[in-house]
Amino acid sequence: MANSSLPDRIRRDFPILEREVHGKPLVYLDNAASAQKPLAVIEGQREYLSNYHANIHRGAHQLAQLATEAFEGGRRKVAEHIGAPNAAEVIFTAGSTDAVNLVAQSWGRANLSQGDVVLVTRMEHHANIVPWQMICEAVGAKVEPVNVHEDGTLDLGDFHAALERFSPKMVAFVHASNTLGTINPVADLCRAASDAGALTLVDGSQALPHLTIDVKAIGCDFYVATAHKAYGPTGIGFLWGRRAILEAMPPWRGGGEMIQSVSFDGTTYNTLPHKFEAGTPHISGGIAFGLAIDWMRGVGVETIAAHERSLVAYAHNALETLKGVRIIGTAPEKVGVVSLVVDGIHPYDLGTLMDGQGVAVRTGHHCTEPLMHHLGLESGTLRMSFAAYTTPREIDVAAAALARALAMLR
Ligand code: ALA
Repeated sequence: MANSSLPDRIRRDFPILEREVHGKPLVYLDNAASAQKPLAVIEGQREYLSNYHANIHRGAHQLAQLATEAFEGGRRKVAEHIGAPNAAEVIFTAGSTDAVNLVAQSWGRANLSQGDVVLVTRMEHHANIVPWQMICEAVGAKVEPVNVHEDGTLDLGDFHAALERFSPKMVAFVHASNTLGTINPVADLCRAASDAGALTLVDGSQALPHLTIDVKAIGCDFYVATAHKAYGPTGIGFLWGRRAILEAMPPWRGGGEMIQSVSFDGTTYNTLPHKFEAGTPHISGGIAFGLAIDWMRGVGVETIAAHERSLVAYAHNALETLKGVRIIGTAPEKVGVVSLVVDGIHPYDLGTLMDGQGVAVRTGHHCTEPLMHHLGLESGTLRMSFAAYTTPREIDVAAAALARALAMLR
């Protein structure tokens, strides 16, 4: 049975949760798209912009030193949080999408060639499909997908068969699905892929806000995630990679900061992580990302995970009783994501009617169109997604709003 003790303690950290929408108290269940921000993150960005904004790394003055220390402090917090052996292995990017593109364009261009295969799964977000398709198209390689079962779990038989059949150079998969909530057995997948001679990239976008992450225990070669789904700002995320692999990769974007020296006779490149961070970065973002991690660690990632597990069970029970509702994604291990469909009713119509009742949900393909085709869900799903501050009462309100929407449309 879900309880409210965690949200009772933390909801006051989130000013936006006080607001109304269409004259109704906001019930925000679109956290997989983007989570709301605690005061520590909001104030931390304000403090930087008000008191010590300057460009980083190169200034000789005090503000530049303060900004550099805070930004690099954000990097150290990310590194520590994900168990990275060294903060230099954490490259700040614009988000997960940017991080996958970096690997595809840098590692992929140097290592993929005609006939090679990149193995992904059918539950990937477009961000872990399209960058691979682009580089594969450029070099004559191919992206092959692994099947997903009806309940939203990965088809492990197909995974192992695909490793054998294709001998892929790269295996890229999601840690937790944004559409189904499924938590994949990432350590097992990495071990099998690595035994088959492939490198691995894990997309942790939906894992960072919900799960403890240890890249050493997972055993991957690359791990990517974004800040804004984990209570941090938009426009910043990271790529973690094994040091030797990152060292061997050519730079992707050229410009300031990523160089050691520039001349028309030839340019040499900076050390990690700067080699992959051309131009002025999202300084306030890096600082605030660190503050979001502080906030999550202060609450306790295991506490958040346990709360969300109970919310998922509570939501499944509450929604399954509604006539015609079918839950999509019933894997035993899920993060706080509940997708559903109702035969004969478009998810967007339901979502719009729920919005009128103050309930924010997401509808459509959730950037996982191949998964929707695979499951025969051409109109997509209606998705409710939870955060540390979500209460069981909000799920009751959402279920009642959905019931009213269904009554209007039938
Ligand atoms: N990728 C984001 C989601 O799952 C936008 O909603």
